[in-house]
Amino acid sequence: MAKRIRKAVFPVAGLGTRVLPATKSIPKEMLTVVDRPVLQHCVDEAREAGIEHFVFVTGRNKAVIEDHFDMAYELDDTLQKRGKLKEYEALRDDLPAAGATSFTRQQAPLGLGHAVWCARDIVGDEPFAVILPDMITLPGAKKTRCLGQCIEAYEKHGGNVIAVEEVRPEDTHMYGIVSVGKDFGHTFEINGMVEKPPQGTSPSNLIISGRYVLEPQIFDILANVEKGAGGEIQLTDGMKKLAEKQGFFGVRFDGKTYDTGSKVGFLAANIAFAMARDDIRPGFLEELKKIVGKI
Ligand code: UTP
Repeated sequence: MAKRIRKAVFPVAGLGTRVLPATKSIPKEMLTVVDRPVLQHCVDEAREAGIEHFVFVTGRNKAVIEDHFDMAYELDDTLQKRGKLKEYEALRDDLPAAGATSFTRQQAPLGLGHAVWCARDIVGDEPFAVILPDMITLPGAKKTRCLGQCIEAYEKHGGNVIAVEEVRPEDTHMYGIVSVGKDFGHTFEINGMVEKPPQGTSPSNLIISGRYVLEPQIFDILANVEKGAGGEIQLTDGMKKLAEKQGFFGVRFDGKTYDTGSKVGFLAANIAFAMARDDIRPGFLEELKKIVGKI
């Protein structure tokens, strides 16, 4: 029987150069989509999927992330004294329980594979989830967000699971790509992976989109993976090695993913997430119509 996925790793040590100057002194994971930091959206998704422990792999200038997942005594006190109980309770609800977060430092941004490897001692010998925090997701007809669908697939197939999404064939060179083996529809067997294939050589247009369930054997492999695309230790290279011994399954995520690590993706996420909020949509739509009407 598949083990329960209790822990999720959030690699948040990247430099966020694509969204400079916003990220000069603010971690890109703390930029807000509507009224919540991008990273809070990801933690919400993980909690919804049943995750109990949140492991953040951070770097220098990221201390504000730790503060965000702590109590803010002065603020809590002031909100209560002013009778702003709705705001106070919302902050309390967002907070993971005491002891349910861990923080470790990557020390140098050597790549996503290296960042995940930094969580090895905290995760230990159990399957775990990885959430790339610059990708945020909205549910589709299935009503669950992306990690929930990945864990469902893990419970069905076991092995390792990767969420994928379709992109235009001309954009495949920017992403990690999977090729499809036995196809079950919503899920499929992965029979190949490649990181940022040169244009015209991609085996499919299904990109690895930022949610994974991995077996702990990935850690020993990542310890020995050579630098790959971009001179970084790539998670995809580690997963390719693991796939020689264990099954990998893809999940065609039913919903929509936004890459807040790019300027256009970040702006699109704000519009989509605002439109998905009953309390914000009416007023926002009015403003949007005024802007779009002038174009
Ligand atoms: P990205 O490549 O999107 O992040 O990595 P980046 O390096 O911050 O982005 P740019 O290209 O400079 O704008 C995907 C995720 O992996 C994390 C990032 O924080 C991001 O969430 N990451 C990447 C690390 O934690 N460490 C690394 O060494 C690299």
